[in-house]
Amino acid sequence: MSRISLSTRFTLILSGVFLVGIALGGAVYWRGIQNRAQEQIAAQGLLLIETMNAVRGYTTQNVRPLLADQLTASPEFISETVPAYSARTVFQNFRDQLDFSTYLYKEAALSPTNPLDAADEFEADLLAQLSSGETSGQISGFRELNGERLFYIARPLTIGSESCLECHSTPEQAPASLIATYGDKGGFGWELGQVIAVQVIYVPADEVFNAALRNFSLVMGVFVVTFALVILLSNFLLKRYVIQPVYVLSGLADKISADENYSNELESKALQSITTRPDELGSLAQVFKKMATDVYERTGMLKSQVNQLIIKIDEMRRKQQVSEVVESEFFTDLQKRARELREKDKGEAATD
Ligand code: HEC
Repeated sequence: MSRISLSTRFTLILSGVFLVGIALGGAVYWRGIQNRAQEQIAAQGLLLIETMNAVRGYTTQNVRPLLADQLTASPEFISETVPAYSARTVFQNFRDQLDFSTYLYKEAALSPTNPLDAADEFEADLLAQLSSGETSGQISGFRELNGERLFYIARPLTIGSESCLECHSTPEQAPASLIATYGDKGGFGWELGQVIAVQVIYVPADEVFNAALRNFSLVMGVFVVTFALVILLSNFLLKRYVIQPVYVLSGLADKISADENYSNELESKALQSITTRPDELGSLAQVFKKMATDVYERTGMLKSQVNQLIIKIDEMRRKQQVSEVVESEFFTDLQKRARELREKDKGEAATD
């Protein structure tokens, strides 16, 4: 099994936990932020479509009665009396502001009075859905238009009163001024209660989603940096407070097992600073130091006892060698001959 250092293991575990945390948290956050962006766009769309309906209502209830007499008398058609016109004009004013230039409002019909209101394929499809009765009320969603992602809310426009038919039944019944201005091609043949157009509001979605993405990236970036800092810091602290002291202790243990002189290490500042720590490693170091000191003293004592023994043994050995020499046959023989020689010397001296 390969050895993995404590700090590497620690870093790996922490990174794993953080990665899982970031992935899970990120997924949840991303969903939340997307939902919020969509809600925000939908709220904008709803606000605008209701505003347009208010403008339409104002035109029908306030403007039209005032101009009704003029409309019949005037040779020129007064578009200001038409709800569809006022809604489009008001929205055009709103779009003229730079920030809202990408917003769109349309009352799209298959055969409109104003060609500008002609439904495109997508809108025709919406109209078909809304007039089929399968989907009532409103449809909303996203569509791509001119390379831009737009959120739309679509509602049916119905011929709700007889008054509409003054202009929208047949060209013959419509005011002559209307025909003079708009022609007799579109906007006719409509019936009471019929869904004749789809009212659609388009709100640019890219901006809001991009903002959400920027927000997301920022928050995730802060998370990742924080986690990286936490990992680095914990690694640093682990080294400083755990691994470094363990190195000092294991270095000392190495010297003890190799029977080297470690009296300097016992008094070293490094060991001193560990033993004074108030934590678990501090008490371990204290016990270890005490043990090492005991071992040091005991080995010292043992060594000096062994030395004394050696000296004694040497002495005894030397004595034994001397006595061996003294007691050997050769030596006694030598002694005997020496004595004889001495006696012979004495005899000769006496004869002289
Ligand atoms: C005085 C005549 C007149 C009356 C009444 C009238 N309209 Fe119109 N309508 C028009 C004209 C003109 C336009 C084109 C306005 C424009 O956009 O320039 C139009 C446009 C529309 C449009 C947009 C599609 C298109 O054809 O361009 C719808 C939808 C519409 N009318 C529905 C209605 C409804 C619903 C009523 C009844 C509440 C109604 N109209 C009453 C004259 C009238």
